[in-house]
Amino acid sequence: MNRLATVSANGRSLAPVNLDTAALPALVLLSDPHSPSAEAYRSLAANLQFAYADRQLQTIGVTSAAQGEGKSTTVANLAVALAQSGRHVIVVDADLRRPGQHTLFGVDRDEGLANVLKTDDAQLPLQDTVAAGVRILSSGPLPSNPLEALASRRFDQVLALARAQADFVLVDTPPAGALADVAVVAPRLEGMLLVVSAGKTKRDLARRAREQLERVNANLLGVVLTDVRADSKLYRY
Ligand SMILES: Nc1ncnc2c1ncn2[C@@H]1O[C@H](COP(=O)(O)OP(=O)(O)OP(=O)(O)O)[C@@H](O)[C@H]1O
Ligand SMILES: [Mg+2]
Repeated sequence: MNRLATVSANGRSLAPVNLDTAALPALVLLSDPHSPSAEAYRSLAANLQFAYADRQLQTIGVTSAAQGEGKSTTVANLAVALAQSGRHVIVVDADLRRPGQHTLFGVDRDEGLANVLKTDDAQLPLQDTVAAGVRILSSGPLPSNPLEALASRRFDQVLALARAQADFVLVDTPPAGALADVAVVAPRLEGMLLVVSAGKTKRDLARRAREQLERVNANLLGVVLTDVRADSKLYRY
């Protein structure tokens, strides 16, 4: 499988911090644009645009084997990198269990995906973000049954509405491991990225997540390797 990007853990540079984005340090594309991490997200964005230029690839989901491996951070920074190369991007927070996009972008969570899944409104409550070109559909209030919400036909419509308004729709999801959410979301997207943390992900879990995605016929585009220490040996998954 392609390794599309390697994002170091400690790759901050000494560039001055932009005051507007100092409150959103996880968006390294804005807060620390010259860092190796920012550069890694930019090359991920470039890889996605050029390697798949001949194929329909607008809706892209990001998942990982387990919790806390960097899915949400990857979605947010990839969105900013794509926007900085002139694309219109909508981030959809479909992690209806541990949503994180509203925090990363510093926006409200109250009105979002969970709300629109309960209506047939053609208007999505998209919020502008600090990053020009990036809009976000945050999670909304957590539903009692996230799996059922994501499995609905209405979720397909929401994706289609977002797709019609952007060049890329990036979808944050729960981890693939214990939950079936990804199995219902991944087949409806044009591509999936698997985040693997060099520091945290157990090798067999990463392999299992990959098999899980293949089983549901997800279009697995490649791996994003996070938390790579400068001194680490080559990580194999
Ligand atoms: N490339 C990276 N290198 C090191 N640490 C990272 C990297 N990307 C994200 N992190 C850190 O890892 C932690 C988890 O990140 P994040 O919230 O993006 O993961 P997640 O997979 O979305 O988690 P969850 O399963 O809770 O949704 C955060 O503390 C974040 O700052
Ligand atoms: Mg997350």
